[in-house]
Amino acid sequence: MKTGNEDNIGSMRTLPSMFYKDPSLLEEMKEMIFARSWQLVTDVDRLKAPGQVVPHSVMEGFLNEPIIMTRDADDQLHCLSNVCTHRGNLLVEGECHAQSLRCRYHGRRFSLDGQMVTAPGFEGVADFPADSDHLQSVPFASRRIY
Ligand code: FES
Repeated sequence: MKTGNEDNIGSMRTLPSMFYKDPSLLEEMKEMIFARSWQLVTDVDRLKAPGQVVPHSVMEGFLNEPIIMTRDADDQLHCLSNVCTHRGNLLVEGECHAQSLRCRYHGRRFSLDGQMVTAPGFEGVADFPADSDHLQSVPFASRRIY
Protein backbone atom coordinates (compact mmCIF):
# COMPACT_ATOMS: atom_id res chain seq x y z
CA MET A 1 0.00 0.00 0.00
CA LYS A 2 1.36 3.37 -0.96
CA THR A 3 1.13 6.24 1.48
CA GLY A 4 1.94 8.96 -1.02
CA ASN A 5 5.33 9.71 0.50
CA GLU A 6 7.23 7.17 -1.61
CA ASP A 7 7.71 9.73 -4.40
CA ASN A 8 9.43 12.16 -2.03
CA ILE A 9 12.22 9.83 -0.84
CA GLY A 10 14.84 12.33 -1.94
CA SER A 11 13.62 14.84 0.62
CA MET A 12 13.46 12.42 3.55
CA ARG A 13 15.82 12.52 6.52
CA THR A 14 17.09 9.83 8.85
CA LEU A 15 15.78 9.76 12.39
CA PRO A 16 17.56 12.09 14.80
CA SER A 17 20.26 10.33 16.85
CA MET A 18 18.36 10.97 20.08
CA PHE A 19 15.79 8.49 18.80
CA TYR A 20 18.39 5.74 19.32
CA LYS A 21 19.84 7.06 22.59
CA ASP A 22 16.95 8.38 24.68
CA PRO A 23 15.94 5.76 27.29
CA SER A 24 12.51 7.33 27.68
CA LEU A 25 11.80 6.68 23.99
CA LEU A 26 12.77 3.03 24.45
CA GLU A 27 10.30 2.77 27.34
CA GLU A 28 7.64 4.44 25.22
CA MET A 29 8.28 2.02 22.34
CA LYS A 30 8.01 -0.93 24.73
CA GLU A 31 4.51 0.18 25.66
CA MET A 32 3.43 1.26 22.19
CA ILE A 33 4.75 -1.70 20.22
CA PHE A 34 5.70 -4.74 22.25
CA ALA A 35 3.28 -4.60 25.19
CA ARG A 36 0.39 -4.43 22.70
CA SER A 37 1.50 -7.21 20.39
CA TRP A 38 1.08 -10.97 20.61
CA GLN A 39 3.77 -12.79 22.56
CA LEU A 40 4.29 -16.53 22.83
CA VAL A 41 3.83 -17.64 26.43
CA THR A 42 3.76 -21.41 26.74
CA ASP A 43 2.64 -24.70 25.30
CA VAL A 44 -0.94 -25.19 26.45
CA ASP A 45 -0.12 -28.87 27.04
CA ARG A 46 1.66 -27.70 30.21
CA LEU A 47 -1.80 -26.67 31.48
CA LYS A 48 -3.71 -29.87 30.82
CA ALA A 49 -4.83 -30.49 34.39
CA PRO A 50 -7.12 -28.24 36.42
CA GLY A 51 -5.02 -26.48 39.06
CA GLN A 52 -1.96 -26.21 36.84
CA VAL A 53 -0.13 -22.87 37.17
CA VAL A 54 2.64 -21.75 34.82
CA PRO A 55 4.47 -18.46 35.46
CA HIS A 56 6.12 -16.61 32.61
CA SER A 57 8.03 -13.37 32.12
CA VAL A 58 6.85 -11.72 28.89
CA MET A 59 9.89 -10.86 26.74
CA GLU A 60 12.37 -11.72 29.48
CA GLY A 61 15.18 -9.20 29.57
CA PHE A 62 13.17 -6.58 27.69
CA LEU A 63 9.58 -6.14 28.93
CA ASN A 64 9.96 -8.45 31.96
CA GLU A 65 6.20 -8.52 32.50
CA PRO A 66 5.38 -11.26 35.04
CA ILE A 67 2.25 -13.22 34.18
CA ILE A 68 0.78 -16.60 35.04
CA MET A 69 -1.30 -19.01 33.04
CA THR A 70 -3.74 -21.09 35.07
CA ARG A 71 -6.35 -23.75 34.46
CA ASP A 72 -9.11 -23.52 37.05
CA ALA A 73 -11.36 -26.25 38.46
CA ASP A 74 -13.94 -25.50 35.74
CA ASP A 75 -11.29 -26.33 33.14
CA GLN A 76 -11.01 -22.69 32.03
CA LEU A 77 -7.68 -21.15 31.08
CA HIS A 78 -6.71 -17.76 32.49
CA CYS A 79 -3.83 -15.40 31.90
CA LEU A 80 -3.24 -13.15 34.89
CA SER A 81 -0.79 -10.67 36.28
CA ASN A 82 1.71 -12.42 38.55
CA VAL A 83 1.95 -9.34 40.77
CA CYS A 84 0.07 -9.23 44.08
CA THR A 85 -2.39 -6.35 44.17
CA HIS A 86 -1.39 -5.49 47.75
CA ARG A 87 2.30 -4.54 47.68
CA GLY A 88 3.44 -5.94 44.36
CA ASN A 89 5.03 -9.17 45.53
CA LEU A 90 5.59 -11.84 42.89
CA LEU A 91 2.91 -14.47 43.50
CA VAL A 92 4.20 -17.57 41.71
CA GLU A 93 7.88 -18.30 41.13
CA GLY A 94 7.71 -21.77 39.64
CA GLU A 95 5.36 -24.06 37.78
CA CYS A 96 3.05 -25.74 40.26
CA HIS A 97 -0.32 -27.32 40.89
CA ALA A 98 -2.56 -25.36 43.25
CA GLN A 99 -6.17 -24.80 44.27
CA SER A 100 -5.51 -21.09 44.80
CA LEU A 101 -2.65 -18.60 44.74
CA ARG A 102 -1.38 -17.35 48.10
CA CYS A 103 0.94 -14.39 48.38
CA ARG A 104 3.79 -15.23 50.72
CA TYR A 105 4.24 -11.62 51.83
CA HIS A 106 0.98 -10.85 53.69
CA GLY A 107 -1.14 -13.84 52.80
CA ARG A 108 -3.68 -12.59 50.30
CA ARG A 109 -5.28 -15.50 48.52
CA PHE A 110 -6.54 -15.45 44.93
CA SER A 111 -8.60 -18.00 43.04
CA LEU A 112 -7.17 -19.39 39.82
CA ASP A 113 -9.34 -16.96 37.83
CA GLY A 114 -7.68 -14.03 39.62
CA GLN A 115 -10.41 -13.11 42.11
CA MET A 116 -9.12 -12.09 45.51
CA VAL A 117 -10.61 -14.51 48.01
CA THR A 118 -9.14 -13.53 51.37
CA ALA A 119 -6.89 -10.82 52.77
CA PRO A 120 -5.72 -11.27 56.37
CA GLY A 121 -6.33 -8.10 58.39
CA PHE A 122 -8.90 -6.71 55.97
CA GLU A 123 -11.92 -8.52 57.39
CA GLY A 124 -14.87 -6.11 57.75
CA VAL A 125 -13.27 -3.33 55.68
CA ALA A 126 -15.97 -1.44 53.76
CA ASP A 127 -16.11 -1.83 49.98
CA PHE A 128 -13.43 -4.49 50.04
CA PRO A 129 -12.35 -6.11 47.86
CA ALA A 130 -12.54 -3.53 45.09
CA ASP A 131 -12.04 -4.44 41.45
CA SER A 132 -8.41 -3.33 41.73
CA ASP A 133 -7.79 -5.97 44.44
CA HIS A 134 -8.32 -8.82 41.97
CA LEU A 135 -5.47 -9.92 39.73
CA GLN A 136 -5.46 -8.17 36.40
CA SER A 137 -6.53 -10.40 33.51
CA VAL A 138 -4.33 -10.38 30.43
CA PRO A 139 -5.95 -10.99 27.03
CA PHE A 140 -4.77 -14.22 25.42
CA ALA A 141 -5.63 -16.80 22.81
CA SER A 142 -4.53 -20.37 22.41
CA ARG A 143 -3.58 -21.84 19.07
CA ARG A 144 -2.88 -25.43 18.15
CA ILE A 145 0.14 -25.66 15.87
CA TYR A 146 0.48 -28.91 13.97
S1 FES B 1 2.14 -8.12 48.95
FE1 FES B 1 0.83 -9.78 48.64
S2 FES B 1 -0.38 -9.83 50.41
FE2 FES B 1 0.89 -8.09 50.68
